Amino acid sequence: MYNSSVLNLGPLRLDPPLLLAPMAGVTDLSFRLLNRRFGCPFAYSEMISDRSLSHNNRQALERLRGTPEDRPFGIQLLGNDADLLAEALEKLEPRPYDLLDLNAACPAKQITRKGEGAALMREPEKLEGLLTALVKRAPVPVTVKIRTGWDADEVNAVEVARRAEGAGVCAVIIHGRTRAQGYSGAVDFATVRAVKEAVGVPVVASGDAFTPETVGRWFAETGCDGVAVARGAMGNPWIFRGAAALLSGEEPSPPSVAERLSVMEEHLALAVETWGEPRGCLVFRKFFYWYTRGMREVRALRARSNRAAARAELEELIAGVRAANGTPLTSDAGGAII
Ligand SMILES: Cc1cc2nc3c(=O)[nH]c(=O)nc-3n(C[C@H](O)[C@H](O)[C@H](O)COP(=O)(O)O)c2cc1C
Repeated sequence: MYNSSVLNLGPLRLDPPLLLAPMAGVTDLSFRLLNRRFGCPFAYSEMISDRSLSHNNRQALERLRGTPEDRPFGIQLLGNDADLLAEALEKLEPRPYDLLDLNAACPAKQITRKGEGAALMREPEKLEGLLTALVKRAPVPVTVKIRTGWDADEVNAVEVARRAEGAGVCAVIIHGRTRAQGYSGAVDFATVRAVKEAVGVPVVASGDAFTPETVGRWFAETGCDGVAVARGAMGNPWIFRGAAALLSGEEPSPPSVAERLSVMEEHLALAVETWGEPRGCLVFRKFFYWYTRGMREVRALRARSNRAAARAELEELIAGVRAANGTPLTSDAGGAII
């Protein structure tokens, strides 16, 4: 049994104590809705730059597309300038949301070069100032997403988390790696545990949450209050169902092939509904790859999916996966998972 309970993020009570982490190019409306259906109680947008919002960039606003079912919902901003962030908040006014996150975690060079994302870990005072201003101005509670530090020589998450708490954030989300590690190498349970012990606000851990067991491990190793699932949900929204089961002492039940394929079809339909046909198909292509991990005879189908621009074409390819993996077309397994 894991020592986990409800995750309080401001006024939100998240049960199970899990959330969908922000992922650029991945956590769009269709993906969020699907994960919610499997028990994900809260989802963030992908990061949106303050500059693009303040410049009324149509694409930035489009990427924040949502529906009333897509709640509670958090928006993640990327930026390092209090005035631009304030302008971005103004642009967000018509768009309902429940939490605001500031990204101090992105390791991409084109971002850190501008002093944004994980570069803010190197300027804890500045980050504190930005968070103080955001807490004052934002209409919703504020969180911050950090890393353990810049690199192995600059592991300063405890100091950064303390400052963030002082600035008034309602939770700290920490990817248990340094900026230098990017997305690989071992996650650092000890630093996340030290952060948990150092602050009174909830601490949400992120990193390698690929299975219900690795989600559970964060709670066991660090005493964290919640876990943010990222790559583990790609083509695998069942991770929320499985992790919830495990956290409450039950056996997680992995999806059958029939279930995976019917959800894949549903995801395609949601992507097309969200973005229209050609763009929805483009968005879905990477999911085709992720959903078919570990399935038989998918190589050629995956290659074709990479060029598919019509829903019918992708549906035909999914039917091909179904045929190759021995699942009858008339399967009603989808009904069991609603
Ligand atoms: C494709 C991709 C896009 C990401 N985009 C963002 C982002 O926009 N904002 C952010 O804070 N983190 C982003 N992340 C980091 C994740 O939120 C998460 O912290 C990280 O992937 C570690 O978790 P994992 O090992 O379970 O995937 C991204 C990760 C991936 C793989």
